[in-house]
Amino acid sequence: MKPLALKKCLDILQNYLEYPAYSLESRLHHRDEKQFIDQNTYSEILNDLREIMRWLNKIHFITQKTLRALNLDAITYLQRAELYYSVYCVHWKQIKGFTLQKEFDEFHKTIPDYTHPKWIPLLTQFLEKISHFSWEIALKNKPLPEKISILQAVPSFFVEHLLPVMSEKKIQANAKAMNPFKDQNYIALRIVLDKGKDETALNVIRDECLQFLHRSRIKTKLDPDIPFLIHIPLIQRKLVSKSKFYESKKVIFQDKSAIIACILVDPQPLELILDVSASPGMKTRLIQELTQFQSVIIGGDIRRDRLKATEKLLNQMETPNTHLIQWDGANLPLRIGDNFQQPIFDKILFDAPCSGSGTFLNDPEMKWHQNKHILLKNVIIQEKILKQLKKYIQSGTTLIYTTCSLYPEEGEYQINKLINKPWFKEMKPQPLMKGISPSYSINDSLTAILSSPEKQIIGLGRIFPAKQRSQGFFYAKFKK
Ligand SMILES: C[S@@+](CC[C@H](N)C(=O)[O-])C[C@H]1O[C@@H](n2cnc3c(N)ncnc32)[C@H](O)[C@@H]1O
Repeated sequence: MKPLALKKCLDILQNYLEYPAYSLESRLHHRDEKQFIDQNTYSEILNDLREIMRWLNKIHFITQKTLRALNLDAITYLQRAELYYSVYCVHWKQIKGFTLQKEFDEFHKTIPDYTHPKWIPLLTQFLEKISHFSWEIALKNKPLPEKISILQAVPSFFVEHLLPVMSEKKIQANAKAMNPFKDQNYIALRIVLDKGKDETALNVIRDECLQFLHRSRIKTKLDPDIPFLIHIPLIQRKLVSKSKFYESKKVIFQDKSAIIACILVDPQPLELILDVSASPGMKTRLIQELTQFQSVIIGGDIRRDRLKATEKLLNQMETPNTHLIQWDGANLPLRIGDNFQQPIFDKILFDAPCSGSGTFLNDPEMKWHQNKHILLKNVIIQEKILKQLKKYIQSGTTLIYTTCSLYPEEGEYQINKLINKPWFKEMKPQPLMKGISPSYSINDSLTAILSSPEKQIIGLGRIFPAKQRSQGFFYAKFKK
């Protein structure tokens, strides 16, 4: 990296280490770096920072072990950023220590009064030592959960929290599937259906798109369950996003997990659908496409900025019959009572705010936001919103509750709390779709409610990064 780019990269990393509350991307945007650096350098910095975030605890572990050998404990945030960047370059980008040394020499010249005399020789020693780091020695005698946490770069909270519902082997496989691995990660490309176009048009666009992908020598896999979904290698994302198909919005990137949620809504023309937390609006849009824009959606979100972005997206894609309102889902401003006609929702989708523990592949920073406080905060808001949705559920209403979380607290346990409530007694579990895995089995009473004589998966289900190669997701579908 050139000295100026390295300076920006280390500056942002240092700032993150000191104040971890804001995302890296927002820091990069916030500083308006685009004005000062060219697009390629900006992407290089962003990509390096994202990857450092993805592997943060692993990088930290190698740094600590190497530092201990150097007997150095007090360093500044900028020096720590230099060490993290060095570990990332040597172990992930296979850059040689002496090449990095040259980069740092140039970088240090740009800030003459920065280092105390001891730092440069220490950094040199560190660069020599990190390439000799041995996982075998470092992880010797460590219990498996700790090894998973370090090797797959997930917080120990994530591992510990899944242990009651998953074997160590499965936790490891799911954590691994949420990290990029050579060319084995795929991303899903969905064919978009515009207004006035039907299934035949969809097939035509899909074939055109497949032809384009084959011409560009991009490997494709058709989805076994969803005809309008094509999987391509993640590393080809950039190429596709510059294509005329993508730019003209004939295709968009949308994870299979999100598409399943919309298919489970099973929206029909003329239905009235409530989309409780709709931003950024990707599911809202697909629900409309599935009804050829003939359902009516009332959707909202608590965040004004996200709602504005949703409005922009839905307008750009010309999505009619969709009404957006800024609201708190726990206190919906939809009138009910004696003097007002109660809205009759056919379907209610609550795609809840959650820990995001199933989304690390696309959002590596989410890893380091996993802790009991954030989980509890999300569980409470999910519970509050679910509780008040009862007002809008009448005979015939279907409720679809989904989260992009692997934790049972945001899935099975939420439904388990509901099944004992009088209002939920009339809610009947509904069949889910092919390709969904069974939910965790947390207790006998929930299992009994969900057992179907046809051995179908009904009521609750999940999909997993390791199994379905998608985000980790939880689905619940009940009808009154
Ligand atoms: C998982 S996202 C929804 C994604 C969206 N359904 C889609 O597919 O594009 C959860 C959303 O819930 C919103 N949210 C958080 N708390 C909320 C609340 N109390 N009421 C309504 N929305 C809320 C967040 O701002 C976030 O946009």
